[in-house]
Amino acid sequence: MTELNKIALKILSDGKGILAADESNGTMTKRLESVNITSTSENRLLFRETLFSSECMTECIGGVILYDETINQSSISEKKIPTLISDSGAVPGIKVDTGAKVLANSSEEKITEGLDGLRERLKEYYLLGARFTKWRGVYNISEKYPSKLAINSNAHALARYSALVQECGMVPIVEPEVLMDGDHSADDCLIKTSEVIQKCFDELITHKIDLTGIILKPNMILAGNKSKNKISNEEVSFKTLECLKKSVPIEVPGVAFLSGGQSEIEATENLNLINKNNNTNFIMTYSYGRALQQSALKFWSKNIKDVKGTQNVFNHRAKMNTLAAQGKWSSDLENK
Ligand code: G3H
Repeated sequence: MTELNKIALKILSDGKGILAADESNGTMTKRLESVNITSTSENRLLFRETLFSSECMTECIGGVILYDETINQSSISEKKIPTLISDSGAVPGIKVDTGAKVLANSSEEKITEGLDGLRERLKEYYLLGARFTKWRGVYNISEKYPSKLAINSNAHALARYSALVQECGMVPIVEPEVLMDGDHSADDCLIKTSEVIQKCFDELITHKIDLTGIILKPNMILAGNKSKNKISNEEVSFKTLECLKKSVPIEVPGVAFLSGGQSEIEATENLNLINKNNNTNFIMTYSYGRALQQSALKFWSKNIKDVKGTQNVFNHRAKMNTLAAQGKWSSDLENK
């Protein structure tokens, strides 16, 4: 077992999942303002530190993805944030892309940037305690999109990023997110997501990536959020498994889904069914941002000093998802 494989398994095993707390300052400002909290560096830290000091960090959370601002901050007790996380038993991670920009010659699509100077930035993050990283490519679905140009160029960037991350001794999360925006069917999502993921693996293999030392972070297969033909949660699980079975090489240790705009319960229920029906060898767990933090953020915004109350809400959500990552969740557990 390689060191990278060990890190990946430490993050994903035993029903553990990933807390994606890597919102950029712009995105975090939107999240905080939606609950009437001013987005200052202190408030961003206070909310995140409340989560990172929760009980579920030991039992449920295998890794936390941080944003550049947070990885450089210290907690109220003057502990460095990566130390606070690793002391709880979870692995600190860092988002290293610099965002999705307009793709030249296909202006309705995006290419993710951040390769320039990445090798040097990775060394700094490693010294700060990070042992895994994230890079997100985004793709929209319509009749003509995602184009070959977007599929190929994002896959190439994901592979170059992964090579640099592994060179530095960290596990890359490879995140090709096919967005749920639009009126497309679940079958369109299945076809396009499969194409996107397959191209990513073609490039990862060309770039000699150790596939046992990566984590794939894909979307689930869903109908678009404006589609009139929604499918059942059971069908979501079958289509998601079909996509991954045909697109992901067996060496990959695990898949950690993004929630992508699903409600908290929907994201938990779909993950649970994916695990109940799992006919692959991959670990299937969560790497949720909104679907892990929404209720906790709402609760916290009513009284930002209520640390314990906020942690109870977060502990519950993390426990529900950890049960779902083992196919052991049921809706009646939500109210206990
Ligand atoms: O890149 C996206 C985040 O890491 C996951 O966020 O679960 O809210 O889609 P989400």
